[in-house]
Amino acid sequence: MPQNVFVGPIARRYDAGLGDMADAALLARTADVLAELAGTGGALEFAIGTGRVALPLAARGVQVAGLEISEDMVAELRAKPGGSEIPVTIGDMSATRVAGTFDLVYLVFNSIGNLLTQAEQVACFRNAAAHLGPGGRFLVELGVPDLRRMPPGQTSCPFDIAPEHLGFDTYDFADQHLTSHHVWFDGSECVRFDSHHRYAWPAELDLMAQLAGMDLVHRWADWERSPFTGESRSHVSVWARGTDGDGGTR
Ligand SMILES: C[S@@+](CC[C@H](N)C(=O)[O-])C[C@H]1O[C@@H](n2cnc3c(N)ncnc32)[C@H](O)[C@@H]1O
Repeated sequence: MPQNVFVGPIARRYDAGLGDMADAALLARTADVLAELAGTGGALEFAIGTGRVALPLAARGVQVAGLEISEDMVAELRAKPGGSEIPVTIGDMSATRVAGTFDLVYLVFNSIGNLLTQAEQVACFRNAAAHLGPGGRFLVELGVPDLRRMPPGQTSCPFDIAPEHLGFDTYDFADQHLTSHHVWFDGSECVRFDSHHRYAWPAELDLMAQLAGMDLVHRWADWERSPFTGESRSHVSVWARGTDGDGGTR
């Protein structure tokens, strides 16, 4: 069973800890790209969370639905203007089927990494394909594994040292596992959160897509659609389900 860790105080303070990921210009670019891909056929967000992306996308007139494992994250979404109008199914993105067919399924902010085994990530690709009509698109935003920061023998690396937040990653290279350790200092309160991920290279995701009957159509370095290069720190990738009806069956 996949982990469900975005609960309780972590869900309640999720939006406050978003930092640059809540930037209005970034969210506008993100919603522009998703709206173009969704067309008139509607979009399904896997791991919709508190609606960081779904709400600005819905504000563009796109019919958005969500799938999410954490009821606490959905409660945060429901408390926002427009949040109760987005239908959300509680479940696991590697297994749960949402009613309907969509032109776009999307999964952003490194969230595919929350599935900790290769089998679950492959199942997620198959589940995405099962929600798409022929030619429908699956979009994933994911960091490129940052292993170039790690000299031989080192397994941990800081990524943020700020007055209100300390963050460092630890790696298990054999299992492709990464744990991001966070400590937030919130006035007199100190909140600790360990976020577990399975990291994967873009080429591994392409193979997962092939297994699910989808082929790569775009790989950008960011939401401005910059070219993806060997120096890119993350990618926005889009795969299309085949038009021959073989999605999810390979
Ligand atoms: C980093 S947050 C991203 C939330 C939102 N998509 C965003 O961009 O702000 C990761 C989300 O994935 C959800 N999640 C993790 N594993 C999941 C699973 N197996 N199925 C559905 N949702 C999952 C978490 O509960 C959390 O809401």
